Amino acid sequence: IPVDPFVLTVFGATGDLARRKLLPALFHRDLAGQLPQRASIIGASRRVMSRGQFLDFARQALVDHVPATELSGPELQRFLDRLNYVVLDAEGDEGWRDLAELVAPQSDLIHVHYLATAPSLFQPICERLSRHGMAAGNARLVVEKPIGKNLESARLVNAAIGAVFPEDRVYRIDHYLGKETVQNLMALRFANALFEPLWNSGHIDHVQITVAESLGVEERAGYYDTAGAMRDMVQNHLLQLLCLVAMEPPASLDADAVRDEKLKVLRALKPIDELNAGQLTVRGQYRAGASRGGAVPGYLEELGSTDSATETFVAVKAEVANWRWASVPFYLRTGKRLASRVSEIVIGFRPVPHSMFMPAAGPVSPNRLVVRLQPDEGVKLWLMIKDPGPGGIRLSLVPLDMSFAEAFNVRNPDAYERLLLDVVRGNQTLFMRRDEVEAAWRWVDPILEAWRATSERPKPYTAGTWGPSAAIALIERDGRTWLDDG
Ligand code: BG6
Repeated sequence: IPVDPFVLTVFGATGDLARRKLLPALFHRDLAGQLPQRASIIGASRRVMSRGQFLDFARQALVDHVPATELSGPELQRFLDRLNYVVLDAEGDEGWRDLAELVAPQSDLIHVHYLATAPSLFQPICERLSRHGMAAGNARLVVEKPIGKNLESARLVNAAIGAVFPEDRVYRIDHYLGKETVQNLMALRFANALFEPLWNSGHIDHVQITVAESLGVEERAGYYDTAGAMRDMVQNHLLQLLCLVAMEPPASLDADAVRDEKLKVLRALKPIDELNAGQLTVRGQYRAGASRGGAVPGYLEELGSTDSATETFVAVKAEVANWRWASVPFYLRTGKRLASRVSEIVIGFRPVPHSMFMPAAGPVSPNRLVVRLQPDEGVKLWLMIKDPGPGGIRLSLVPLDMSFAEAFNVRNPDAYERLLLDVVRGNQTLFMRRDEVEAAWRWVDPILEAWRATSERPKPYTAGTWGPSAAIALIERDGRTWLDDG
């Protein structure tokens, strides 16, 4: 079903996000017949180029990021015909009148302003949108992380945005919320009667959330060195996943109903600060090693520096201090240049209270539910079953395995496809509200401060491994292990 007609302006249109994600996502939705005839896209950037040159840039972006079979039909030209380009200075006057003139004849449509720019440009762009009459009731603002680099700066960014756009027209993207399996977590929890009665400290022993990447920081080292894994991944993606696991059932899928529940989780996170950061957190930085069979450089070499204390790996033992989750650890871990690219959530259930099978049948392992985000999205429920055969009873832990690719046989849409159309639909459920972002910083800030206050460096780990040995010790101290294989 096509969405309502819209004009989408991408600020920073010649950047990496537009090239790798936004243009391919819009093209895929066009291919699926979801863009109405009058939908158009305006690229805006400082880079001087003609419309023709921008079209070439967009065509190349699609060639690079869309399978060739999808580019062979007339849809490619139809998509390119929707594009326009404006040279614009986000902090000056150039180009703003041109942009206003381009969108003015479309005043009856939904206007989406997508800021795929450095965060320092959010305020100047918002001010100019307002000054040139492009922030009125039909205009929506989309911003990408990072929203600030601590609570104080996030508040300033949010205030600058809020001075022009009311909260119900602001869409803060966390692209993890657009991932299919992440939404499936809500379906799994709230559309099945099976799990919710067990979803608490009475039956769940612990939760693991892993977002492991095999790539290093590569050409993003400049940005990354000012952020680190805590700001880049934990403050947003991992905490959002934690919220979806831990939140109370919202009364509806209404944006504020869901976001209210996530906010309560963020506010219930037990503080980690100077006193306990040493026991509850581990940070690491990769050294040269091997990845997928080839030698890869260390972080400092990629950065071109001999000195940086920026973490490329974080493990945290978090706790949600409320009635449902009291004393259930949430082990979070994320890092670059780890052994493989795996993102998954593991719900570890408590063992049975008594085993009648011991000792001959072997030990009874606790059940676990694994929601795998990537690669090969799916859900696995590990159960104890009897090994087949006429002998005595022997038990094995075996997965009930549901792979989305096999079950549905469809292409898994990129998170941005879903999220971009949700903006046009006016659905904020999968976007972060201002108070959520700020609550996440309120928990992260004291950890960052504790790290800054110590003279300890991030622990080195070899590229291509599962991170520093201290991260393994963090969970093994509690008699548990990281589950790397689902
Ligand atoms: C981004 C981070 O938000 O998420 C990157 O800035 C990271 O550092 C990326 O690589 C991971 O996203 P995905 O969808 O590839 O898991």
